[in-house]
Amino acid sequence: MKLLIDNANIEDIKRIYEYYPMDGVTCNPTILLKEGKNPYKILKEIREFIGSDAQLHVQVISLVAEEMVKEAHQIQKILGKHTFIKIPVIPEGLKAIKQLASEGVNVTGTAVYSPMQGYLAGKAGAKYVAPYVNRIDNLGYNGIAVAKQIHDMLKDTNIDCEVIAASFKNAQQVIELCEYGVGASTISADVVEGLIKNDTINAAVDVFVKDFETLCGTHATMLTCLDD
Ligand code: E4P
Repeated sequence: MKLLIDNANIEDIKRIYEYYPMDGVTCNPTILLKEGKNPYKILKEIREFIGSDAQLHVQVISLVAEEMVKEAHQIQKILGKHTFIKIPVIPEGLKAIKQLASEGVNVTGTAVYSPMQGYLAGKAGAKYVAPYVNRIDNLGYNGIAVAKQIHDMLKDTNIDCEVIAASFKNAQQVIELCEYGVGASTISADVVEGLIKNDTINAAVDVFVKDFETLCGTHATMLTCLDD
């Protein structure tokens, strides 16, 4: 499963990239708002950091297909062809996805709350579809089940499109979809950092260090404990 960070803060992105095996960056207009700067200024900085081949998912704002397509062209012109264009899966969005897919533009169907949205976006030519796990849960439905159902529908009908699950609130949700084989998950910085945050792990590692120092002296490591 590919792991992307759902964030537009360059310091957060650099910190997460330093430690975790990440495959790209996603954002949405709400995430960009948090940075309070010109969107292209933020996105160009992210693109420069992650490199021209890495996945960067950027959302269009227009609600009319022809304008969505124009936005997509401009986004890719400025941020490169490995920029996935996030298109909300509404009827105008499906029209735009069909057009962009016919041009070979990589599209991510977003704002997905139902299995049929996911299926139709994939059938229209999107490379990814993004069910919003936590937001679906908040509506009283089962976000994980929706993500799995979309995954199954795409695989069962041989549609070349992967689920990029989004809107997570905890590590367990990510684990469940990873185990199920979904193509990607995009996760906020705090959820990424929660994936292996556990005091029991730290305590175990501390005991190893303490035992080695008892054997070889304070601050000793395998670099310093030579036997000559
Ligand atoms: C991704 O496509 C979505 O924009 C994002 O994951 C939504 O996350 P939220 O529900 O935490 O805002």
